[in-house]
Amino acid sequence: MLDAGCGTGENALHVASLGLSVLGVDVAETALAIARRKAAERGIDVEFATADAFQLERLGRRFETVMDCGLFHTFDGDERPGYVASLASVTEHDGTVYVLCFSDDGPNTGPHPISREQLTAAFSPSTGWNVAAIEPARVQTRFHDEDGAPAWLATIKRI
Ligand SMILES: C[S@@+](CC[C@H](N)C(=O)[O-])C[C@H]1O[C@@H](n2cnc3c(N)ncnc32)[C@H](O)[C@@H]1O
Repeated sequence: MLDAGCGTGENALHVASLGLSVLGVDVAETALAIARRKAAERGIDVEFATADAFQLERLGRRFETVMDCGLFHTFDGDERPGYVASLASVTEHDGTVYVLCFSDDGPNTGPHPISREQLTAAFSPSTGWNVAAIEPARVQTRFHDEDGAPAWLATIKRI
């Protein structure tokens, strides 16, 4: 499994603790250093590497599952095609990408809220994807109360 934009690695560490083989990537070296320290402290076998989400093909690897928790929604509309193509380059045929992003289904939305239509437009059959499900979810942030912000959990299959 690939965790794209893993930050300090909490999600990658959780999935690895369940026994899956996980690579977490991020551009932020400081975040990766924290993630590696947590892995060592917790005794969890997980790999972290510096990589740009727009150039994932440089990893030279492919993944059955990719997780994007809070990365997709940071990109502007004109950046999304490049990111989606980069994801396509590392996702196995019939593999699954999970995107958790801020939704526009307010109130109290996060910054850069994403609509269902924007998700389905970004991950279309013409770019190698089928959106299997877009479900309402919540995402915790540092700037919302404990209820978090409205989000989508999108399940997207690589054609
Ligand atoms: C909102 S944080 C989410 C972190 C983590 N996934 C989580 O759920 O806690 C977004 C992360 O994406 C990373 N990021 C932003 N642009 C990136 C890029 N082009 N390539 C890789 N990581 C990127 C940031 O450094 C940051 O760690």
